[in-house]
Amino acid sequence: MRGKWAVSRVTADLVKADNQFIHPWDDIVKLGKNKRTVIERGDGVYVYDSDGNRLLDGPGGMWCVNIGHGREEMARAIYDQIMRLSYTSPWSLTTGPAVKFSQAIAAEAPGDLNHVFFTTGGSTAVDSALRFVQFYNNVRGKPEKKHIISHKKGYHGSTYLSASVSGKERDRNSLDFVEGLIHHISAPHSLWKAEGQKDSEFLDQCVANLEDCILAVGADRCAVFVAEPILASG
Ligand SMILES: Cc1ncc(COP(=O)(O)O)c(C=O)c1O
Repeated sequence: MRGKWAVSRVTADLVKADNQFIHPWDDIVKLGKNKRTVIERGDGVYVYDSDGNRLLDGPGGMWCVNIGHGREEMARAIYDQIMRLSYTSPWSLTTGPAVKFSQAIAAEAPGDLNHVFFTTGGSTAVDSALRFVQFYNNVRGKPEKKHIISHKKGYHGSTYLSASVSGKERDRNSLDFVEGLIHHISAPHSLWKAEGQKDSEFLDQCVANLEDCILAVGADRCAVFVAEPILASG
């Protein structure tokens, strides 16, 4: 009984204190009044809340717990690496894990995609890729070749540039974005497919939309097309 009371008291304190933690897309009007479920632990594909309810972790965290919760071999590998070396700067030094991981990614990547640049997440990966494009065209003496084409309703991240490339209406309503550089074309989504239109015709139309955009902006000014090959948040 005492144990149960102690747990629920801890949970109640956590739920209250959680209002100091600004969650993504938090409703500021509710700030101070939120009563969120507290997740205490995970095991495999399940997470458990503070009332002991077992919940299926459908999205796998946010697609980042894709080998499940509580994987001992992963915890041991992280432990071993931290005890051996926590971090070293990649500017002028290198390490075995970074080299091996680059090789493993390059081996899976198609064609001549044989070089790997590490970032801290998806948004910074998109941001870095776009800045590489800008850098590349600057050093080639083509500073005007900077325009980016992406899809309406696509999602590419939450840094200033990756959010600007994204095309979700909700994200675009009340935030500022990079202007004059990014062009959003309609996505290959059934929303824009005409009644009775064949898939092949719709695809031809999507390709034509991209071509029209390139022609309108000018091929010599278009640098990159960004799209989600597999739909995640978009
Ligand atoms: C297609 C796509 N690109 C970029 C991102 C941004 O990744 P992150 O949340 O790791 O910054 C996401 C995240 O959902 C995504 O789905």
